Amino acid sequence: MSQTPSQPRKFLVMGNWKMHGSLADNAALLSGLVAGAQRAGDVQLAVCAPAPYLDQACRTLTGTAITWGAQDVSVHDRGAYTGEVSAAMLADFACSWVLCGHSERRAMHGESSALVAAKAVAALGAGLTPVVCVGETLADRDAGQAECVIGDQLDPILALGADALSRMVLAYEPVWAIGTGRTATPEQAQAVHGFIRAALAKQGAAQTRILYGGSVKAANAAALFAQPDIDGALVGGASLIADEFLNIAASVA
Ligand code: PGA
Repeated sequence: MSQTPSQPRKFLVMGNWKMHGSLADNAALLSGLVAGAQRAGDVQLAVCAPAPYLDQACRTLTGTAITWGAQDVSVHDRGAYTGEVSAAMLADFACSWVLCGHSERRAMHGESSALVAAKAVAALGAGLTPVVCVGETLADRDAGQAECVIGDQLDPILALGADALSRMVLAYEPVWAIGTGRTATPEQAQAVHGFIRAALAKQGAAQTRILYGGSVKAANAAALFAQPDIDGALVGGASLIADEFLNIAASVA
């Protein structure tokens, strides 16, 4: 199901720096992005930096067209949660976005879909836009279980209802395509995006943006962006190179 032509899609290309960067490296990357941002045209640009560098992102990007966000958020407002970062703290650094339930956090930190939904709620409560990540493993796909797994991951998010859904972004990232150089074909990606779109539409939130992620680069972005239900990209490795990241954004027709 595609969005109505009367409401043109605003594409979003978001970098996920993961645990990469330093003050010096980030300064170079951010200045390259700022210098070339006009190449992205109408495409919205964002970077999700490691928490210690949000202050640097805020200072460098304020007043530019590039927005920034974090890679995780606590479900708690405050208290004895050593190492956690609250949504209000992210808002203090003017974050627009926060990734919730990236597959690396689901796999390495045991984040359940219920916890991911609670993180999305915490983010919304502080005025941030959660970017909720879902995706199947290769074993799930080979077993014909991709939609079933993604459906289970989506359930607690869909249960939040149309208003919450309209204030978030979803990201489909097949685990087997992340950091592997192996991208889903545009048809494989569209099939899942169409499935997610139908689930959103059933809740009255068909306009919620759905990003694709997993080895996106300038060479494969245009074919992905040509799919009717792909509204942008969540980019890992290629977001660490300013030129490559901007070329991805410039691939939107
Ligand atoms: P990748 O990572 O582009 O390096 O595959 C994407 C992601 O994990 O968000």
